[in-house]
Amino acid sequence: MSILLTGAAGFIGYHVTEALLARGEQVMGIDDLNPYYDVRLKTARLARLERHAGFRFQRADIADRPTMAALAEAVADTTRIVHLAAQAGVRHSLAAPRAYVAANLVGHLEILELARHLKRCRHLVYASSSSVYGAGASLPFAESDRADAPLSLYAATKRADELMGHAYAHLFGVPQTGLRFFTVYGPWGRPDMAYFSFAEAILRGEPITVYDQGTVRRDFTYIDDVVAGVLGCLDRPPTALSPPLRVLNIGNHRSEPVSALIAALEEALGRRALLRHAPRPRADVAETFADITAIAALTGFAPATPLAVGIPRFAAWFCDWREGRA
Ligand SMILES: NC(=O)c1ccc[n+]([C@@H]2O[C@H](COP(=O)([O-])OP(=O)(O)OC[C@H]3O[C@@H](n4cnc5c(N)ncnc54)[C@H](O)[C@@H]3O)[C@@H](O)[C@H]2O)c1
Repeated sequence: MSILLTGAAGFIGYHVTEALLARGEQVMGIDDLNPYYDVRLKTARLARLERHAGFRFQRADIADRPTMAALAEAVADTTRIVHLAAQAGVRHSLAAPRAYVAANLVGHLEILELARHLKRCRHLVYASSSSVYGAGASLPFAESDRADAPLSLYAATKRADELMGHAYAHLFGVPQTGLRFFTVYGPWGRPDMAYFSFAEAILRGEPITVYDQGTVRRDFTYIDDVVAGVLGCLDRPPTALSPPLRVLNIGNHRSEPVSALIAALEEALGRRALLRHAPRPRADVAETFADITAIAALTGFAPATPLAVGIPRFAAWFCDWREGRA
């Protein structure tokens, strides 16, 4: 009974792997350790995972077909796949579109092919994104809403992953759960995300760029809540559905303005932020807000961490990390 987990050196992948190892699972982690953000953070996460006897790691690019063909033999005993590797980040997809097509489309196809051919694989859980709701969706976002007006190439690749998944569930019976993550934050987080880069700027005394006067709203979801939801879904393959596939929101069900995030960071770091105002970029949606009825009914998912609790935890880790103590 072995789990293949892609993106193991990434933020969510690291935390999900820790939780799986803690409950005694064997995890084979895959990551290409690319330099989209500070690779030291990825290798530090990996070093923590490598303390566990149940963890193995292979550096590999999921979009590389020969690598994936060789991997298929090495992971023949895989019973479940958690696929979190991707080129993340909404705005970066304007600057580096090909990285998104390679990791999120070609890479996703390779994972679908792997799941199709692994004889013992019972469930593929993969990362989608709240960004698939794009423009004009009504709030809160529900899985039954249309998701055909993406505002960024990143969002378009994540929606395409869901559609490719549908075809593989229909044609080959690959059981899948796609998870639409909503602004996940916490310790060992991602430096390109606002909460992390704001914290760095605040401590350096540098200005942070705030869109639309801080009125942009996000459903900020704490990492521990996300991990509980991912494991709850992994344990419940949609085998009884036809085709065996579901797509679920995984958010905090609480839409808060970026101004509240900044206030929580100021409080936790004990410093005031210097603000530089700018209009919201065209790739960013004005608000995200998750309807979590479906995942709650399936798994008992009940996110319990408001910004006032999660941001101080992030800030404590962040200060340790900056000072080489993490
Ligand atoms: N963090 C969020 O708020 C959020 C929101 C919506 C969706 N997601 C999705 O959740 C997943 C995990 O996100 P994260 O925040 O942990 O991001 P992350 O960037 O920290 O983790 C992704 C990991 O995948 C690896 N990777 C990228 N391309 C690869 C490739 N071709 N082959 C092998 N490894 C590759 C990276 O090196 C990285 O370690 C991603 O699919 C992301 O799109 C995250």
